[in-house]
Amino acid sequence: MKTTGGTDEQKRRAALAAVESVEDGMVVGLGTGSTTAFAIRKLGDLVGSGLDIRGVPTSFAARELAREAGIPLASLDEISAIDLAIDGADQVATSDGALVKGGGAAHAREKIVDAFADEFHVVADPSKLAETLSHSIPVEVLPTARTTVSAAVSDLGGDPVLRRAERKDGPVVTDNGNLVLDCDFGEISDSESLATALSAIPGVVEHGIFVGLADVVYVGTADGVDVVE
Ligand code: 5RP
Repeated sequence: MKTTGGTDEQKRRAALAAVESVEDGMVVGLGTGSTTAFAIRKLGDLVGSGLDIRGVPTSFAARELAREAGIPLASLDEISAIDLAIDGADQVATSDGALVKGGGAAHAREKIVDAFADEFHVVADPSKLAETLSHSIPVEVLPTARTTVSAAVSDLGGDPVLRRAERKDGPVVTDNGNLVLDCDFGEISDSESLATALSAIPGVVEHGIFVGLADVVYVGTADGVDVVE
């Protein structure tokens, strides 16, 4: 699983703080990534001690981890609400709470689950914080639309690069069978407008800008957790 600039201890602190909001009977959205993995494992421990929850995973990787941890799972078709989603982020804008997600190529399902949840709590470490978004934006595209979407992203001022698998000679393929373009737009002054423009490109399945979705951000630090609401 991808790791980032934060330490495991910072990630663990953030994840455990978010898990404290989970209550008996809840349906919990289970995010993807190395930070959320700490939350999934902790929830598994709590289930082992009697906590009654169901998890809705945001990716194949999250599902596998949750199964190993012993968390009962449900699909979106089997539940009528998600009480709380816990998920990581690649960048968090401190100015307005906008996020970049999709470092694990799971942002399409993550956006569905995180947006549907009554509460969406982000778990992060200090390396993820920035005044405004500047991280490259993952854009999941239908394989047939790779070239046309790349051209449209360039027209919007972005620099699209096809994401390649680290240890395989080929592109990253998402859980949905699509490709990912990592699109560098430099400093993003208006993330909402860019989000709208990317969504309007034919062939774009989903992009990794999450605007207005996060309710709380837990930032694990060297000696505690900062909570941003
Ligand atoms: C996956 C994601 C992850 O939440 C994001 O990449 C953060 O991962 P990590 O906690 O490993 O830094 O969006 O699509």
